[in-house]
Amino acid sequence: MSAIAAGPRQTKFVLDESRIPTSWYNIAADLPEPPPPVLHPGTGQPIGPGDLAPLFPMELIKQVVSTEREIEIPDQVRDAYALYRPSPLFRAHRLEKALDTPAHIYYKYEGGSPSGSHKPNTALPQAYYNKAEGVTRMATETGAGQWGSALAFAGSVFDLDVKVFMVRASYDQKPYRRILMETYGAEVVPSPSPDTQYGRKVLDATPDNTGSLGIAISEAIEDTVSHPGTKYSLGSVFDFVLLHQTVIGQESIEQMGMAGEEPDVIIGCAGGGSNFAGLTFPWLGRTFRGGRKYRVIAAEPEAAPSLTRGVYTYDFGDTAQMTPLIKMHTLGHDFIPEPIHAGGLRYHGMSPLVSLLKEGGHIEAQAVHQRSAFEVGVQFARTEGILPAPEPTHAIRVAIDEALAAKEAGESRVILFNLCGHGHFDLAAYERYLDGTLEDYEYPREKVEAALAGVPVVG
Ligand SMILES: Cc1ncc(COP(=O)(O)O)c(C=O)c1O
Repeated sequence: MSAIAAGPRQTKFVLDESRIPTSWYNIAADLPEPPPPVLHPGTGQPIGPGDLAPLFPMELIKQVVSTEREIEIPDQVRDAYALYRPSPLFRAHRLEKALDTPAHIYYKYEGGSPSGSHKPNTALPQAYYNKAEGVTRMATETGAGQWGSALAFAGSVFDLDVKVFMVRASYDQKPYRRILMETYGAEVVPSPSPDTQYGRKVLDATPDNTGSLGIAISEAIEDTVSHPGTKYSLGSVFDFVLLHQTVIGQESIEQMGMAGEEPDVIIGCAGGGSNFAGLTFPWLGRTFRGGRKYRVIAAEPEAAPSLTRGVYTYDFGDTAQMTPLIKMHTLGHDFIPEPIHAGGLRYHGMSPLVSLLKEGGHIEAQAVHQRSAFEVGVQFARTEGILPAPEPTHAIRVAIDEALAAKEAGESRVILFNLCGHGHFDLAAYERYLDGTLEDYEYPREKVEAALAGVPVVG
C-alpha cells in the first residue's frame, strides 16, 4: 500500500441535520451549589425579572431564572441553525503525528458557521426572541468582531436593525470584520464613540483610548435605553448566552460516542466564558448527575487573566457601572487590557457560572501568552489545515501541552477542545507573528491593583 493511502482511521464525525439538539442544556438544574444572586447596583438587593426588562425580551429573562434542565429550542431557531449545524468533530490525526504523542486529540469546529465562530449559536435565538416580542433594533458591543458579525448575520435572518459598538483596537486591526457586518446590514462604530454620552466622556479624557469590552458594553446599554424599540444583546458572560452555546457540548457527546471514546480532558478558551461553557457544561452536567469526572480546563490570556489572577467578588460587567452587580472573577471593571490580538479574550470579568465552578474546584484554568498561542496556531494550520482564530489558539496551546505531558508520562490520554472560530480575518496578527514583531504583554499588576481598588463593596 502506498504511504499516502488513507487507512481505516476516521477523521470527521458528522451528524445528520436531524440530530441538531431540540433543547438547550441548563446547568442550573445540576449545579452542586446555587449561584449567588445578581444584585441591583443601587439597592444592593437581588434583581428581579422587571429590572432586566428594559434590556432583554421576557423569554430570555425567563431562561435566566429557569431551573428546568432542558429548554426547548424554537423551530425557527433550529431551522436557522441548520445553515451550519451540527458542526463537525475532528480527530487531529496529523497534529498527533507531528507531536509524536500517544494522546488522542479531538476538536469540535465552530468556524464553519456563516460568520466564522460559535457566536451565531446565541445570536440567532436572541434575534428570534426579540423579533417575536416586537423589537425592531438591537444594540451590542463586539471585541474581536466575531460577535458583532454573528449578531449582524442574525439580524439579517430575522429582519432586525443592528448597531455595533466595536472596540477601537479591533476596529483598527480588522477592517474586514467591519465590512462583513456592514454587508449583513449592521451599523458599526468604533468604541469609545461620539455617539453616546459615555463615549464622548471617555474620548474627552483619553482621545487615543483603544477601548475595551467594558466601555463598549456601557455604550451599547446607553444606546439601548435611549432608543425606543431597541433592546440590548450580548455575546457572552450572561447565563442565557452560555445556555444557547450548549448545543456544542451536546453534539460533541454524541460524536465522541461515534468515535468510541470519552475525553479525559476537555478544554475551551475563555473570554467571557461562552464557548468554554458551551462545550463543557453538558459534560459537567453528566458528572454532577453522578457520572465520571473529567478534567475541564479554561484557557485565558496572560494579558487579561481573570480566572487565574482575578478576585472572586461582586463587580460591574461594564466600565460605566450600568450593569447589575455580578459575582465573578474580575480584574476590576476599570481594567483596560493591552491590545492583544485575541480581541474576544480582552475582558475584565468572567461569566458568573464559570466563576462559580472555578471557585468550587470543578474546573481548572491556565493563562497563556499570545506568542506561545500564535506559535501553536501556526502549527495547527500546518498540520490540520484550519487557520484558528487567535482566541482558540489559547485552547490549542493547553491541548498540545496536555498531549506532550501524556507523551512524557508514556500514557494515553483523550483530549477534546473547542476550535471555536477561524482566523481568516486575523491575518494581520498572523503576519506580525510570522515577521517576529508580535509582543507578549506582562500582567500589569499595578494597573490591576488600581482597578481592583474601584470594585464595589457589597455588604
Ligand atoms: C472566536 C472567539 N472565541 C472566543 C471568544 C471569547 O468569548 P467567549 O469566552 O464567550 O467564548 C470570542 C469573543 O469574541 C471569539 O470571537
